Amino acid sequence: MSFEFIVTEVKGNVGLVRFNRPKALNALSPGLMSEAMDALETFDQDDGVGAMVVTGDQRAFAAGADIKEMANATVVEMGKSTFISSWDRLKRIRKPIIAAVSGFAFGGGCEFAMACDMIVASESAQFGQPEINLGIIPGAGGTQRLTRAIGKALAMEVILNDRRLTAEEAYRFGLVNQVVPKELYLEEALKLAQQIANRAPVAIQTAKEAINAVFDMDLDAGVAYERRLFYSLFATEDQKEGMDAFVNKRKANWKGK
Ligand code: CAA
Repeated sequence: MSFEFIVTEVKGNVGLVRFNRPKALNALSPGLMSEAMDALETFDQDDGVGAMVVTGDQRAFAAGADIKEMANATVVEMGKSTFISSWDRLKRIRKPIIAAVSGFAFGGGCEFAMACDMIVASESAQFGQPEINLGIIPGAGGTQRLTRAIGKALAMEVILNDRRLTAEEAYRFGLVNQVVPKELYLEEALKLAQQIANRAPVAIQTAKEAINAVFDMDLDAGVAYERRLFYSLFATEDQKEGMDAFVNKRKANWKGK
């Protein structure tokens, strides 16, 4: 895969996507978003990849949607564009995605990280939704995902008053999984992704689907949905292999079938 605004790599069985517009603090232009989604969808189809990591650089994960590209847009042009809806493509990726965040994760950058499944943050990471300063509101899920993650009171402050969260605060409020020194954030994210990628692939993807269903369903429907997914795994070779390995005290050899 060759791209203009991102760099991709496969490390072990982890697909890595790096935003690569450092001079613009990795602002998420339509071109970058489209390339990032294409790369993630390609990794999602690749049997050699079990999980993905998305990152920026030490200074910025991404400082938001590209303001310069949006500044003169009309309401009709915004509505016609597939730019904002490209965040929805993240939701359709079946394999786990970890955001490795250092520096600024603002606006669409914060929304991108929140649309991933887990966040590993460097101690220098800052999360914010500063759209209010531009006379707009978050448009790629920020009001919804941030509120679900950190609660209404704090989300109001972040979105209405540009309150920025340090990595430690983001950890305390449940937005991120771990905070690590800035030299190690990518390594730690890759390590976590690798551990997950080594597990039973169909069960991993099914678990992700079941957890994400919590945002779309009430408890009874969610529990019933989980149960159907749970039963469905008894049709996989991996379930037979995993249970046989346990009973015979050996390491399971996952097939992803
Ligand atoms: N879009 C386009 N360019 C951006 C950008 C963005 N979101 N963020 C930074 N840049 C560019 C700057 O224009 C600057 O370019 P030039 O050197 O050509 O002037 C370069 O990146 C470096 O930025 P700064 O000089 O501003 O760096 P700083 O360290 O002084 O400040 C910052 C860093 C606080 C992150 C500041 O750049 C900033 O406030 N950026 C905008 C953040 C923002 O408002 N994000 C929300 C965007 S809207 C959105 O995301 C909507 C949505 O919900 C999808």
